[in-house]
Parts: sequence; C-alpha cells; structure tokens
Amino acid sequence: MAITIRPFGIDSLGRRINCYTMENRHGYSVSIINYGASIQSIKVPDRCGKIEDVVLGFDTLEGYQNNTAYIGATIGRVCNRIDGASYDYEGKRYTLDANDGLNTLHGGREGFHGKFWIAQTTEGEGRDFVTMYLNSHAGEGGFPGSMRTQVVFSFGDDNRLEINYLATASEDTPVNLTNHSYFNLSGKGTIKDHVLSVDAPTFLDVNEENIPLGTVHTVENTVYDLRSPVLIEKAIKTGNHPTFKRQKGFDVSFRLSGKGLREVAMLHHPDSGRTIRVRTDQPALQVYSGQFLNEQGKGGAHHGAYAGIALETQHEPDALHQPSFRSIILKAGDTYHTQTCYAFSVE
Ligand code: BGC
Repeated sequence: MAITIRPFGIDSLGRRINCYTMENRHGYSVSIINYGASIQSIKVPDRCGKIEDVVLGFDTLEGYQNNTAYIGATIGRVCNRIDGASYDYEGKRYTLDANDGLNTLHGGREGFHGKFWIAQTTEGEGRDFVTMYLNSHAGEGGFPGSMRTQVVFSFGDDNRLEINYLATASEDTPVNLTNHSYFNLSGKGTIKDHVLSVDAPTFLDVNEENIPLGTVHTVENTVYDLRSPVLIEKAIKTGNHPTFKRQKGFDVSFRLSGKGLREVAMLHHPDSGRTIRVRTDQPALQVYSGQFLNEQGKGGAHHGAYAGIALETQHEPDALHQPSFRSIILKAGDTYHTQTCYAFSVE
C-alpha cells in the first residue's frame, strides 16, 4: 500500500503538522495528523461505491487547536472523568487539572489531544502503519513520572483500522488511552438514522457531573439495552431512564461482555450500507451520541447535536476512586498495551 503525506499547518513553535493518508486497494482511506495524533478523515464507499468521509473533523490545524469536543483525537493520559481532579496513591495525593467543573476530563488542560506528536510511517504489503510518538513530561497535568507513548495506527486491504496503544512510565501513573472519533456513516446530517448495538449486559450510572456513582446496573428494560441493534432516533425519542433524559442521549460507560480481543459494538447505516464493527481488548466502552456538539467542521459543515457518535474503548471511568473497578495504574517499568480495531464494511 502507499502512504501520502501533505502539509497540514505549522504550530506556534514552528513545528510542522502533516496529514498522513493510508489508502488501500479498494479506495478506502484513513488520514491521521500529528497534532493530537488525531484521525482527520476516514473515507469509505457505500453500496453504490460512493465514497464519503465518515468521521467528523476539521480542514485546518486551527480547527483542531480550537477543538473543544476532542474530535478525532487521541485522549490521555487518562480519558474520561476523574472526580475532584485528584487521587491518592500509596499515601500521596496527586492534584490534577480541573477542566470540567471541579473534575478532570480527558487528561486535563495538558491532555494528549493538544500535543505535537512525532510521526513515523511504514508501508507494507497490504497494510500500512503510521506510528505517533509522544513523551509526556513528569508532572504534566499533575500526573507523576514521565511517560513515553506510542500509538500505532494501521490500515490494510482488509478495510480494518487497527490502533495499538503502548506506554511506559518512569513512575507508577494512571493511564487510560482512547480515541475520540465521532462517526457518521452517512457523511452528513445526524446519526439518528444509524443503528447501534453494544455487547454489554451492564452500565455504570453517573451523577449530575457525569461521575460514576460506583453502581453497576443491568441494561435490561432500559434504553441502554443495545444487545440487539437499536435505531438511535428511537432510543432518543423513547429512552426514559432519568440519566439518559438529563443527558439528552447516550453518554454512558458500558461494561462489555467477554475478555481479550473481541467484537463489542456495531454501528450500521441502513441507507448506505456502511457498517463499523468495533473490536477491542478493553473492558468498557463510552458511548457519546454527540448531543452537545457545536463545531464548524470540514467543508463548512456545522457539526451540531447528534452529528456524530463517539465509541470510546477504555477502562471504566473514575477507576482511581472506585476500588471495585479495575486498576488503571501502570507500574514503572511495565508496558501498557491495548488494542482497538474498527472494521469497515458495506452490508
Ligand atoms: C464524554 C462526554 C463529553 C465529551 C466531549 C465524551 O467522552 O463522555 O461527557 O461531553 O466526551 O468532551
């Protein structure tokens, strides 16, 4: 396959941002920029071969620099929310950036989404690789130890975008990395005419600040039961769970079935046939239906409410304060490695 590189802008320190595009032999392509290690576009055909860009994004670097919805970005060191912007670990208190009321959201002000990443490309037989490197300094955002992160995006003739996240740290630190792409398989309008399934028997309920209460609930008889495909518009119209009503849509952490790399969710657009199957080795999926989006996006399109849906593979949010959730501490010297795959098809 072949990777093309085009200039995307120069940041305030004079560093070059490029857009790296991996195109496969079916005409599908994935573009990544080394600002925020962000997915800038994913182009996929419909049943008639018509190609559309199926992720929200921006045409310019300025768009990404002013991106308040984390569109397309790699999120770290810790995605999702941390209650009270602090945590205790081995007798010490760590104070983090409070950037969402009193809480930390998506790594805080110094999050990975706003960083300059070093890129390396590798072209292969039937599969290309764009690797993004970031060195997060000790104390950045309040997190301990320096952390080296590698995000390997690879795209192949099998129409699969694989993302491998790797990290090592000089001190024990919390880590929870994800990608914050918003998908819209019609390439325009809203995702209300999409169908979604998530293989999760339970979800985490949250308080008014969207912090998990620590309680785990069955999806049965709630709008969160997506074990069979559900039309998103129907869920939005009829969902009467109090949290869902307050949030005006999905903004929920699902506890996924199974372990190891497995298929956990499917998003399908019946009109075009475009479909994404999400595979991951992670235990949780944050689904956010984009109800509060309000951004000026690619090609002059306004990304408004429900313009895209984020399917964020991760560990449970606020795990630092919930002893019953799996630990997100990466021990100094250990290697963090997680994998997520978005498989595209026309069905
Ligand atoms: C969160 C939402 C938040 C959005 C944009 C999502 O990952 O779950 O609560 O509004 O990111 O910041």
